[in-house]
Amino acid sequence: MCEAMSAEDAAPSVPTYLRRHYWFAYLYPWTVAFWDHLLMVNLVLLGNYSRLRTITLKYFSSRPAGNVLQIASVYGDLVPRLAAWTGENSGTFDLVDVLPLQLDTARRKISDAKHVRFFNRDASNLGLPTAHYDHVLLYFLLHELPAEVRRETLREAFRVTKHGGEVVIVDFARPYWWNPFRYLWCVFLAIFEPYALGLWWHDIADMVPEDCRKLPRTHARFFGGLFQMTIFTCQ
Ligand SMILES: C[S@@+](CC[C@H](N)C(=O)[O-])C[C@H]1O[C@@H](n2cnc3c(N)ncnc32)[C@H](O)[C@@H]1O
Repeated sequence: MCEAMSAEDAAPSVPTYLRRHYWFAYLYPWTVAFWDHLLMVNLVLLGNYSRLRTITLKYFSSRPAGNVLQIASVYGDLVPRLAAWTGENSGTFDLVDVLPLQLDTARRKISDAKHVRFFNRDASNLGLPTAHYDHVLLYFLLHELPAEVRRETLREAFRVTKHGGEVVIVDFARPYWWNPFRYLWCVFLAIFEPYALGLWWHDIADMVPEDCRKLPRTHARFFGGLFQMTIFTCQ
């Protein structure tokens, strides 16, 4: 199953919020069969899937690979592309997800996996070594997490990142006032994504551990502000 698990590792339980609010997206093979297509992921991101994936891969291709960790798998082809890029550049790629089904889905898409490890772990309790990774990617995970789990997940992300390494966050944000999605999308999120408005009302810098709030960061917004890419450099 998951190569990186040792015998004494206990599989994490499925978080209550995931069971309650996201069962239809992640929990069963039929949900994977339904959602894991470029058409569907593009729909969820309002036509921005390719753009956001390209921006993310461009960030990686501008750096040496090193040790890369992605916290939580995603549908579409970001994971196999990132794994391929890491391998071609003599890096390592670790993928964490709380659901074995999601790890198995990602594994099937990665053709050369010699440098790849899969960890069935909860993002809020990674159990991975401190200061080990050059890049830690959180791609559309934070908006699905309740505030407390989000804080713990960010704490873990910063803990496992090396000095000089970067924590890369791609996720929703509050659109600019002139963007109609500011008014339409918040209704959709309030109904279907109960924790997402946390990213709408609060700056990510206010959610990271206190000693990381002053870290240098770059911040870019896309699609009238609805999406953000925020990169913290650990020191
Ligand atoms: C990254 S998020 C959202 C991805 C987005 N809907 C997409 O596919 O483009 C989805 C993944 O996060 C995982 N996940 C949710 N909560 C988690 C947690 N606490 N720890 C690890 N993985 C988690 C889910 O199992 C799922 O595979």
